[in-house]
Amino acid sequence: MSARILDGKACATELLQAATGRVAQCVVRGAGPCLAVVLVGDDPASQVYVRSKERKAAEVGVATRDHRLPANTGTDELLALVRALNDDPQVDGILVQLPLPRGVDSEAVLRAIDPAKDVDGFHPENLGLLMLGTPRFVACTPQGCMRLLAMGEVKLAGARALVLGRSTIVGKPIAQLLVQADATVTVAHSRTQALAEEVSRADVVIAAIGRPEFIRGAWIKEGAAVIDVGINRLASGRLVGDVEYAAAAERASAITPVPGGVGPMTIACLLSNVIDAAERRLGLR
Ligand code: GUN
Repeated sequence: MSARILDGKACATELLQAATGRVAQCVVRGAGPCLAVVLVGDDPASQVYVRSKERKAAEVGVATRDHRLPANTGTDELLALVRALNDDPQVDGILVQLPLPRGVDSEAVLRAIDPAKDVDGFHPENLGLLMLGTPRFVACTPQGCMRLLAMGEVKLAGARALVLGRSTIVGKPIAQLLVQADATVTVAHSRTQALAEEVSRADVVIAAIGRPEFIRGAWIKEGAAVIDVGINRLASGRLVGDVEYAAAAERASAITPVPGGVGPMTIACLLSNVIDAAERRLGLR
């Protein structure tokens, strides 16, 4: 079987086009959406991510407020900034780029964000609402994975889905979204036994472990759908996912490339969440 490529760039472009129209509606009714971005320290990867988020925001007309703080910023100072942004009526969404430097209490900072402005969907209240099946903000990467599965018309009801990775940012929320889509879900992690067997039984594989090409193509069930969240840079400079792409693509019915799969969706879903927040402020939803 030759897999259908789930093109994240194309899917994100569609979402961003819709976003542009939604922003215009917000502007007509008052103030357009605004995202506050908080970046602490000088982690190069975080700087790249933040720059692309801000660039895409500008493209669709979402205003951004940049808060760059030195690596030695303390928890109290960050909490004060988050509280000020919570109280600022012009700010619809707050994004605190992770990871925060060592020594900062990340949990406390994420919990301090007003859940109504938590466009990352990491606040316990938003994670709880997701668990209950009544989500307010769904974390951007899991949301992007679900949109890619929908674009590929992948049948989830009754399907065996395997999520590799149990992070709060990706693995846990996506497992929940798949359960709500009526899939039978297994979550695998570093202590899982017989991983190859688990993979070979799955109709849908979501890989979010951050280990280059760890999931071998030969493990993939014939006809399975594969969503690869991993973005790993090899010593050669080449970017690869968590799945051995070429071999997996020979067996899968649908697969996301790396780069150009889940990555662009994460940013598009973030901006969609910011616009959701603005629409709620304006009583449009
Ligand atoms: N660091 C890596 N991914 C993310 C994300 O989705 N949101 C935030 N805030 N930080 C991240």
